Amino acid sequence: METTGKSALLVGATGLVGSEVVKILLQSTKYQSVTVLTRRLLPLNHPKLEQVITDFDQLDQYKQHVQVDDVYCCLGTTIKTAGSQEAFKKVDFTYPLELAQFTKAAGAQNFFIITAMGADPNSKVFYSRVKGEVEAELKKIGFPTLHIFRPSLLLGERKEFRLGEKIGVILSPVLSFLMVGYLKKYKPIHAKDVAMAMYQASQRPGSGSFTHESDEIYNLGSVTKI
Ligand SMILES: NC(=O)c1ccc[n+]([C@@H]2O[C@H](COP(=O)([O-])OP(=O)(O)OC[C@H]3O[C@@H](n4cnc5c(N)ncnc54)[C@H](OP(=O)(O)O)[C@@H]3O)[C@@H](O)[C@H]2O)c1
Repeated sequence: METTGKSALLVGATGLVGSEVVKILLQSTKYQSVTVLTRRLLPLNHPKLEQVITDFDQLDQYKQHVQVDDVYCCLGTTIKTAGSQEAFKKVDFTYPLELAQFTKAAGAQNFFIITAMGADPNSKVFYSRVKGEVEAELKKIGFPTLHIFRPSLLLGERKEFRLGEKIGVILSPVLSFLMVGYLKKYKPIHAKDVAMAMYQASQRPGSGSFTHESDEIYNLGSVTKI
C-alpha cells in the first residue's frame, strides 16, 4: 500500500464515531501512521496503528506521541456517565483543550473535533455551553486548520443504553422525513457519516477555521472515496 506520509493522532477511538474514524484512517493511503491515545485497547492490529494506554489526567506525559500532522478528537461523555457536570466538563472541555495545546506545540497543523448541534458559549443549557466554550477556546489556539463538527443526534450501534438517543432512533425515520430545507440540520445522523465527514474535511485544501452543521456533515460524509 502506497502512503503519502501524513501522521494522525486520534482520541475517542473506542467511541461510536471514533471507532469509525480509526477504520477510515487505517484504510487511507494518505496516512502512514495512526496513533491512538486511549483508556482501553482497541481489538485491532494494523501495521500503521500505535495504541497508547493513556491517563488523560496526565496528558503531558505523552508528549512524545503527539508529534503528528492531524489530530482527531472524538472524545465525549454524558453528565450521567461522568457522574457530575464537573466530570463531564473535564472530558468535553479540559481534555480536548489540553490535547490541542500539546499537539499544536508539537507542530500539528490540523485539528478536527466533534462538538454538537447548538454549541454556544452563551447557552443556558450546560451541555451546549460547554461545547460552545471548547469551540471558542480551540479557535484561540491558532491551528492553521480547525474543523468543528456539530452533529445532531448520532445514530449507530451503542452498547450503553441512552434513553434520549433510543427515542431519537425510534423517531428517526419520521424525523428524517419531516426535516427538509432549513430543518435538515436537525436530522439524526449516522456516526459513520460523521467519521467520513471528518476524513473528507482533512482532504480539503485551504486553511482556516470551519464549523460544519449537521446537514453539511451529512453532505461531506456522503463522499465515500477514501
Ligand atoms: N450522542 C449523540 O447523539 C451526540 C450528538 C451530538 C454530538 N455528540 C458528541 O459527539 C462526540 C462523539 O460522540 P460518541 O457518541 O461517538 O461518543 P462515545 O461513543 O460516548 O465515545 C466517547 C469516547 O470518549 C472516551 N472517553 C469518555 N470518557 C473518558 C474519560 N474520562 N477519559 C478518557 N476517555 C474518555 C471514550 O472512551 P472509553 O471507551 O474508554 O469510555 C470513547 O472513546 C462527543 O463529543 C459527543 O458529545 C454526541
